[in-house]
Amino acid sequence: MRAAVCRRYGGPDVVMVERDYPSPDLGDGHVRVRVHAAAVNFPDVLIVADKYQMHASVPFVPGSEFAGVVTEVAAGVSAPAAGTRVSGTCFVGAFGEELVVPAGALTAVPDAIDDQHAAAFGVAHRTAYHVLRSVAKVQPGEHVIVLGAGGGVGLAGVQLAAVLGATVTAVASSDEKLTVAASFGATNTVNHRSGPLRQSLRDALPGGGDVVIDPVGGDLSEPALRTLRWGGRFVTVGYASGEIPRIPLNLILLKGVHVLGFHFIDFATHAPDELARNEREVLELLASQRIGPYIGASFPFEEVVSALHYVAEGQAIGKVVLDFGHLNDS
Ligand SMILES: NC(=O)c1ccc[n+]([C@@H]2O[C@H](COP(=O)([O-])OP(=O)(O)OC[C@H]3O[C@@H](n4cnc5c(N)ncnc54)[C@H](OP(=O)(O)O)[C@@H]3O)[C@@H](O)[C@H]2O)c1
Repeated sequence: MRAAVCRRYGGPDVVMVERDYPSPDLGDGHVRVRVHAAAVNFPDVLIVADKYQMHASVPFVPGSEFAGVVTEVAAGVSAPAAGTRVSGTCFVGAFGEELVVPAGALTAVPDAIDDQHAAAFGVAHRTAYHVLRSVAKVQPGEHVIVLGAGGGVGLAGVQLAAVLGATVTAVASSDEKLTVAASFGATNTVNHRSGPLRQSLRDALPGGGDVVIDPVGGDLSEPALRTLRWGGRFVTVGYASGEIPRIPLNLILLKGVHVLGFHFIDFATHAPDELARNEREVLELLASQRIGPYIGASFPFEEVVSALHYVAEGQAIGKVVLDFGHLNDS
């Protein structure tokens, strides 16, 4: 099969497109998926550089979010059947034409959703929905501040908070990102490069925010937390800035805020019923096209190195996708 292969660690340029990479064996309980689209995420860049928290042994095919069609199922697997359009996530493997994954790890793609949007929906919308619904427990009419609002999780957070009836203040580093966030439901937008974030947020929300969703960390977290009203909720989701902030505890005491965290694997382990309910709800929203990812850039499969550079250099707005569609015709 054709695949983007990493045979030594390094920057995006070490990834090479190969024509005859072996297709993975079909193990018990697994299905084979022909990949039609894959999302490109910052962790893919880190895994190729061997700088991620988990290690992939070379050679390997990077890529962790995909959509495609089931082409083969192992004996005894009843669903999904061959021919079903599916999406899913994995640690590595999605930047190849074929992928073998556990049958139970796949989601059927609603008819109305194309392959690129199905691949891009994977983690970001689910993360944002669990955070808003189960951790922050956002209520209609509340004011939600979303940091990193031009990123995958942030933009999904903007869209979903608005769908849940909240008023959303989007924070990002460029007006271009904020224009997209506004089109996804943000009523206030704050460019954190235009002035001190604390003052800008106070101007936007004189009465304070109810919730902060923070997938960025670094210098943005504390000023955002300071703009919460008494009793507000701050949810730490990730550290895209590369810096884990340290918040003085007296600030929590004085402001009476709740600091909460979300980690997908732990949430799935400790709250399986809520996970299942949220999964149902968010898939209904997707199927009815009330929500969906923003694809800021799409690259043909052969341009995987350019796509990785694009993500590594922080140019992405929303999600970046590799398109395999044309390969299926050849
Ligand atoms: N807890 C969980 O279970 C979970 C689940 C999914 C993702 N995450 C984490 O959440 C974070 C965000 O994920 P994502 O998919 O939204 O990422 P993303 O699409 O790359 O967006 C990250 C945003 O962070 C901001 N940022 C600030 N400094 C940055 C830097 N040095 N490099 C890259 N971005 C930087 C950027 O916004 P501005 O430039 O506008 O500030 C960017 O839009 C990641 O750390 C990810 O690992 C956690």
